[in-house]
Amino acid sequence: MRYFYLGFILTVATIIGLLGFRGGMSRKPPLEIFPDMVRQAKLRPQTPSDFYKDNWSSRPHPDGTVARTKPYMIAGEQLKLDGKAVYPYQETPLSTGRINGTTNFTELSPVPVSAKLIDRGQERYNIYCQPCHSPTGNGQGVTGKFGVGGIADLHSRRIVEMTDGQIFYTITHGSPTGLMGPYGPMISVEDRWAIVSYVRALERSQLATMADVPEADRAALNK
Ligand code: HEC
Repeated sequence: MRYFYLGFILTVATIIGLLGFRGGMSRKPPLEIFPDMVRQAKLRPQTPSDFYKDNWSSRPHPDGTVARTKPYMIAGEQLKLDGKAVYPYQETPLSTGRINGTTNFTELSPVPVSAKLIDRGQERYNIYCQPCHSPTGNGQGVTGKFGVGGIADLHSRRIVEMTDGQIFYTITHGSPTGLMGPYGPMISVEDRWAIVSYVRALERSQLATMADVPEADRAALNK
């Protein structure tokens, strides 16, 4: 047992001797058994370097970089809520689809609906949603033939009765069951609201009544 204690103390002392004083001050280079990427080749910002052609270590922003301080734009115009510009870092119904400080969805889209917005929504819908939900939104999209199951019919009563905020939330985070994945990372906030407006237009198209048909054309339909 005595030898065990002796061995144990020696082992502990050796380990502490080798590893224990990391971070301590010494003029000698440290013995690093596991350097853990502490030191690696890198360029300091704003310093000259011949690695890149322009001899600068700092790189320009990639094309399309958006400053945090840039307010939301909808269809080329700055969007205002209560007369104020809205920024991506703020918690607003615009970026969450929910009433601030609650988990309730906003009843109506905070974005003023215009023909331009719906056109944009149609274009984005046809790229992102149509493969599953079909051009008309009835859930018979082409992916159904390749094994995607249970695609929702956007004209079903439950979805027609959903609030705009909930549809925005569904696009952002996917469906509650996870059968539909989240599209927030691919579709900008502005485009998500545009899609919501187009989904509403699609739903309206299926709910039309005779009263929506111009007087002059009703006779042709009644035949
Ligand atoms: C990969 C296929 C796929 C794509 C793409 C897709 N969806 Fe879905 N979506 C589904 C499926 C499957 C369901 C049914 C999910 C469920 O029952 O949980 C669904 C359900 C929904 C629902 C109802 C959610 C609920 O709470 O029941 C809405 C609204 C919806 N989708 C809108 C959209 C919109 C808008 C887009 C385009 C941005 C889109 N979906 C893109 C497959 C897709």
